[in-house]
Formats: sequence, structure tokens, C-alpha cells
Amino acid sequence: MCWITRQSASTLRVTHAVRKEGDDIHEGALVCPERLCQREYPIIDGIPIILANPASWAENQLPYVLRRDDLTTFTQSILGDLAGAGSPFDRERGNNGIYAHAHWALEDPAYLQLFRAARALLTHPPSGLWLDIGCSTGRGTFELANITSELAAGIDLNFSMLRLAESIRRTGRARYARRRVGLAFDFVDDPVPPFDARNISFWCADVSTIPFAAGTFSGALSMNMLDCVPQPLQLLCETGRVLQPGAEAVLATPFDWAAGATEAAAWLGGHGQRAPHQGSSLAELRRVLSPDCQAGLDTGLFIEAEADDIQWRLRTHERAITEYQVYLARLRRKTV
Ligand SMILES: C[S@@+](CC[C@H](N)C(=O)[O-])C[C@H]1O[C@@H](n2cnc3c(N)ncnc32)[C@H](O)[C@@H]1O
Ligand SMILES: [Zn+2]
Repeated sequence: MCWITRQSASTLRVTHAVRKEGDDIHEGALVCPERLCQREYPIIDGIPIILANPASWAENQLPYVLRRDDLTTFTQSILGDLAGAGSPFDRERGNNGIYAHAHWALEDPAYLQLFRAARALLTHPPSGLWLDIGCSTGRGTFELANITSELAAGIDLNFSMLRLAESIRRTGRARYARRRVGLAFDFVDDPVPPFDARNISFWCADVSTIPFAAGTFSGALSMNMLDCVPQPLQLLCETGRVLQPGAEAVLATPFDWAAGATEAAAWLGGHGQRAPHQGSSLAELRRVLSPDCQAGLDTGLFIEAEADDIQWRLRTHERAITEYQVYLARLRRKTV
């Protein structure tokens, strides 16, 4: 994305490919061709990092980028004990394991149930270029690519999760550590269902400033994202902006608001129960995404169909699972 001209990331040119394998660039750089801009973006481990504000991202993500991934599972388990509970290392592999399990567990991963419910809401099977907003370890992007048989792009800020998604794309295997109990982890190395690696790409990008031009995508998935970002309304606006007029998107959310992710003033519902919506997140979302939105901010999207109480679960360790009842909506990009 050129932050000056708002041109799409697809206009960026590869200037350096310092580590390559076939057509894949593992390390290199892209540059914005705009004469006045010429901004450079790195590609690391096959993932372009396209951010308006890379310094603030680097502050918490650089340790993931620099983390070596060649240590044996033996050494990783020792380091896990040394670093201790709640350490950055513990949080990183715990979190990766939670989402990798939800996306890639061999027997009916929770994510597939959610994806099937999302697909059932669409009027047509996805086709054309689709975007998986907040792709985490990538299952949604893989599923989209399999259906559209065109390019599916997954974007996320978390480099550790993206690296896992990209390594699954490259190797066809999901390799990750999953918490068993406390600091004891099981190491998983499972095959994943067939896919065409050429149709899948992962980008390190912020969902509140998506690095693609207006109208780039034929459709989008926004699964469990609304309650994870500092500005939920901004997420909806960006989703609307990058969709083609008339395009469909599926939004899924358990409205699991938490102050650590979103300050309460920005929640949709979940507060202000004296207001007409009585604190209902669903009522507030419907108001914001009504065809004649009165919110003072038009996202360009409206709700066209809904499904509710769809099961979603996250396994935190072998004896703990958090269950959610997720609300799903099919959104349509307005044509005017
Ligand atoms: C609750 S998870 C949902 C992941 C996936 N869509 C799913 O349903 O399993 C939220 C994801 O959003 C990512 N995320 C949070 N804020 C983001 C932002 N501002 N830009 C990009 N990704 C973000 C996190 O890294 C995480 O992968
Ligand atoms: Zn530029």
C-alpha cells in the first residue's frame, strides 16, 4: 500500500530477492514505485511486512521475527521451563498452539465448523480474490483458496502465527507445540489436507489500515476479529473499503469484549445499558450495519443474513476448553 496515494500493495515491486526457493521469495524487499514515496518493505520468511507504522509493530513483534526455529523440541522444552509461566516465550507458544489446534487438529478442528457455517451464509461459493482478515495460523485462507481456486490472501499482525501459516503453505505440514499441562507441551507434526500453494499468500499487515486499494477483493472473511481490535468500527470501515461494490463478506464474532484488546468506550454494546440498545452488542452492530446507518459513520456495509449460536471453541490445555456461541452475519458492500 502506498500510504501517500492509497494504491494497493499489489503495485509494490520486488527489488531484492536475497533468499529464494523456486518462485518463493523467503527474504527480500518490495518498494513502492511512486516517485515521491519509494518506501521499502521487507519480506521475511516469505511474508511481506506492509505496515504504515512499522516501528510500533517492531516493538513487540521483532522478537518473533528474530526467534530461531531450528532448536530441537528437547531444548524448547528446557527453555520453556527456564523462561517460566507467563513469559513471552510461554505466551507465544501457548497462543500459537491454541489457534493451530483450532485450525489444524486432525479430527474436525473447531475452525472448520465455523467456516462451514460462514460458507453456508454466502449466496454463492467464493470466487475471485478473497481476503482472510486476521488469518492467524491460516486455515481460513487455505479453505478460501481451495474453493475460489484463485488467490486467497491472509493478513495478520502476529508474525509468529503468520510464520506458522506460511510454513504450512510451504511444507504441507502443521508443526507446532500444544500445551498439555502447565509448562509441558506436546509437539504436533501433522499433515494438512491438499491445497494449491500458489493460490495462498500471507501478509503481515494491520487490519485497521489494510494495504490494498479500495475495491480489491471479491469477498472477505472476518472471523473472531471484531472484539480483538482497538477500533472495531475502523475494522468494519476497512472491510467495506477493500471490497468490490456488491461483494459479500462474512463476519463472525462472540462479542467477547476485553479491555486488553479494545477499550470499553469503543465496544459495540457491552456497556451503556441505559441506552436504547440496553448494552446489547447485537443491537448495536445491527444499528451500525443497517442499510440506512445513522451512526454518523458509514462502513459501506450492511447486514443481509444472520446465523447465531454457532459453536466455536479454543482448547487451552488438555483439560480446558473455552466454548463460545458465535454470531455470524453475511455483509454486503453497498453499490453506491
Ligand atoms: C481471535 S484471533 C482470530 C483468528 C482467526 N480469524 C480465527 O477465527 O481463528 C484474532 C487474530 O487477529 C489478529 N489481530 C489482532 N489485531 C490485529 C490487527 N490490528 N491487525 C491484524 N491482525 C490483528 C491476531 O494476531 C489474531 O491472529
Ligand atoms: Zn508509497
